[in-house]
Amino acid sequence: LSSTEVDLSSIAVGQAITVTWRGKPVFIRHRTDEEIEAARKVDLAELRDPETDDKRVKKAEWLILVGICTHLGCIPMGQKASDPKGEYGGWFCPCHGSAYDTSGRIRKGPAPLNLAVPTYTFLTDTSVRIG
Ligand code: FES
Repeated sequence: LSSTEVDLSSIAVGQAITVTWRGKPVFIRHRTDEEIEAARKVDLAELRDPETDDKRVKKAEWLILVGICTHLGCIPMGQKASDPKGEYGGWFCPCHGSAYDTSGRIRKGPAPLNLAVPTYTFLTDTSVRIG
């Protein structure tokens, strides 16, 4: 399928789900206020791949990312509550230790780029079409 529709209504604040789009994992995280705040307050000068959080989301509470590490393509951990999220609170790639923040931006380790943001459209407040 070239696009995937996802119902967000059952994803509680602080939870995340993984869906598949074009054979790739897509991470959808319902961010907490703390996660949004942490993502917004980062100084762009600290970032390897500088992007504001605002540019990476359409609605601040919903972070939607392609779940593939930009180093060598492993799937980062951080989707389950019990997963390590790395020292920046987003995702941790166990393959070679890349750490991503609560906007999915690369902060530490060998990955060169932020986790990619797929094309998506909100159909309603709780429904999104990816692709
Ligand atoms: Fe993720 Fe190497 S593939 S750190």
